[in-house]
Amino acid sequence: MSPATPQRFLTGITTTGTPHLGNFVGSIRPSVAASRLAGVQSFYFLADYHALIKCDEPARIQRSTLEIAASWLAAGLDPERVTFYRQSDIPEIPELTWLLTCVTGKGVLNRAHAYKASVDKNQAGGNDPDADVTAGLFMYPVLMGADILMFRTHKVPVGRDQIQHIEMARDMAQRFNHLYGEHLVLPEAVIEESVALLPGLDGRKMSKSYDNTIPLFAPREQLRKLIGGIVTDSRAPGEPKETEGSALFQIYQAFASEQETSALRQAFAEGVAWGDAKQTLFERIDREVAPMREHYAALLADPGSIETILQHGAAKARQTASPFMAELRHAVGLRRLAAAAPAEKNSKAGKVEAPLFKQYREPDGRFYFKLLDARARLLLQSQGFDAPKDAALAIRALQSGGAEALVAMHGRVTLAPDVQAAEVEAALNYFSQPAD
Ligand code: TRP
Repeated sequence: MSPATPQRFLTGITTTGTPHLGNFVGSIRPSVAASRLAGVQSFYFLADYHALIKCDEPARIQRSTLEIAASWLAAGLDPERVTFYRQSDIPEIPELTWLLTCVTGKGVLNRAHAYKASVDKNQAGGNDPDADVTAGLFMYPVLMGADILMFRTHKVPVGRDQIQHIEMARDMAQRFNHLYGEHLVLPEAVIEESVALLPGLDGRKMSKSYDNTIPLFAPREQLRKLIGGIVTDSRAPGEPKETEGSALFQIYQAFASEQETSALRQAFAEGVAWGDAKQTLFERIDREVAPMREHYAALLADPGSIETILQHGAAKARQTASPFMAELRHAVGLRRLAAAAPAEKNSKAGKVEAPLFKQYREPDGRFYFKLLDARARLLLQSQGFDAPKDAALAIRALQSGGAEALVAMHGRVTLAPDVQAAEVEAALNYFSQPAD
């Protein structure tokens, strides 16, 4: 790749739920930092079609889209610098999804982790394997493949649970390119090894499914209260505390500098009271979050401004998506019938090869034609005609009539040595195919 081609990164954010501190530390903060690096082109989008797979409450879909867009903007995502859009504003995405659906093995989708987990659960419960499984869940990886392949993405930063999806997108691209020519870029997953997994209120991983989250933009007093509820052991003030396995300490570490972290480690060793440690944690998080929280509140109060940003992002994204989709439609044969451009009949992968009729006059004064294949090999030779018009009529008959015309013209045309009738017919078919 030439150095002039920037690496393209793409990040999708499913619009379910309200962002919590775990999302911030694990995804929003590192992603926003990465978007500021030089020499990269970043795409960020709200995966609201994906959200429909998990959520059938319209009001929640809309609310979550608003909250997640506002969160990312408040956390510093710069829509001038990156392409920030909403998946459902790009009609080319579902269009590409269908093309990819047609090159994806059903068996491959059977093995997708999320789908398999549902099937396993059903089987363990003695139910039909596909009970309550929508085709949307089954197709999830294909929609995600379209998200990625649409923008010729090089790198997709994801958690470990998403690696399989990136591999599937690669397979789809490979299969498509094999069939239709080199159109799609093969993406790679980038695994953020160093990103902290934040524990939640109860010490398990912070996750909506455990109901142990701290919302990123909880109002100040609610934040204080939630932090007060982080589980600790029962050691009394004055008793030394363990940092190992302490959710409170780990959350602090995710926000604090190294210096601040070693100060708290020291306080733990010296027997800080849990209440005081929680106050320290609250102040540290609030210091980082407060300015963003203000920005977030202003954005939520003005959804129109977010809508404008997203519309602008969609227009920018479609500048790429729309011509690329036209290229892909053409590649698979979804073409206008009227315009007469040469098709790649009998050719592989985008190379345009065309057979050719040549008309000429011999010294005997008569008019002849011959048919050459795409590599200029002689296929067919005519007898002499009295007038050029007669030769042209015979050519036209062959072009529109194909094999039948060839039989009907027996005696006036002869196959070249070593040429099979099937080869001539294939060449003639070229002329009767609709081209674009
Ligand atoms: N599946 C991703 C998740 O749950 C969200 C997503 C949808 C995505 N499309 C994507 C991520 C494309 C990266 C690229 O986190």
